Amino acid sequence: MPVIVIVSGKASPGATTSAAALAWAWPSAVVLADCDPVGGDLTAGWLSPWVLSGWLRRDIGVLSFATATRHDSTATAGSLTEHLQAVPGVPRVRVLTGLQQASHAASVGELGWRRLAEALAETDAAAIVDCGRLGPGTPWPLAWVADLVLVAVRPLPRHVIAARAALAMLRRHVEPARLGLLACAARTSTISSLEHALDVSVRAELPEDHVAASVFSDGMDEPFGLSRSLFARSARTAASRLAAVPVASEREQRAEEVGSDA
Ligand SMILES: Nc1ncnc2c1ncn2[C@@H]1O[C@H](COP(=O)(O)OP(=O)(O)O)[C@@H](O)[C@H]1O
Ligand SMILES: [Mg+2]
Repeated sequence: MPVIVIVSGKASPGATTSAAALAWAWPSAVVLADCDPVGGDLTAGWLSPWVLSGWLRRDIGVLSFATATRHDSTATAGSLTEHLQAVPGVPRVRVLTGLQQASHAASVGELGWRRLAEALAETDAAAIVDCGRLGPGTPWPLAWVADLVLVAVRPLPRHVIAARAALAMLRRHVEPARLGLLACAARTSTISSLEHALDVSVRAELPEDHVAASVFSDGMDEPFGLSRSLFARSARTAASRLAAVPVASEREQRAEEVGSDA
């Protein structure tokens, strides 16, 4: 099943919100991995009601996986299982909760991200991986194994400029066939101008909808009729398209390289 990595540029286009909405709308089993190196937002956002009520634990996730596997030279899908938690009410989604603070990234380290990349690549379920804003702490091993790396962008000049810079950095690590755009808060009429400005195809789009977005960014109650809204329908369309992304034939080889360089 495909591994889809989502990153953003300098602005805050809606990467985490979109990752959560795509997982919620995913047609089959999916792992939603919060790998933002400066600290994950999912447990304080979409999943916050479940954290507050004690159904989800923030101490089981990226850091517990990295710690538990720290003596292993490679990681398997099995080594990840106990660090995943089913999302209440959306049982197809298992979450790998993110770092609680930026300083924890040092404990994961490059080798911890490599093991996680290997384990996600081996997992039976698809994976949506939120890697946050590109920067010095970016967990590159996840982008190396990804079947598709999406740059989240809004159709606004400052977002396009931020995405352009992100793409310039990404192109040094990821070949063009594995790069795409995730258009956030976008109208269909703006898609072609985004593609034109950035010279990359839009692979998923979500419309502007503050109420629906606040469910996935802040854990607000689902509004009546959410699942029939344009936002939800777009999320389902995008999720089905992404779920059908072929697993890149050379992924196994890339995952092995990621492991063997370690
Ligand atoms: N499709 C959308 N329509 C309206 N608002 C959105 C949409 N997607 C995200 N947002 C809002 O944008 C803000 C930033 O979202 P977030 O996902 O945290 O950004 P990022 O992860 O890129 O930093 C949040 O307030 C969220 O509710
Ligand atoms: Mg984010």
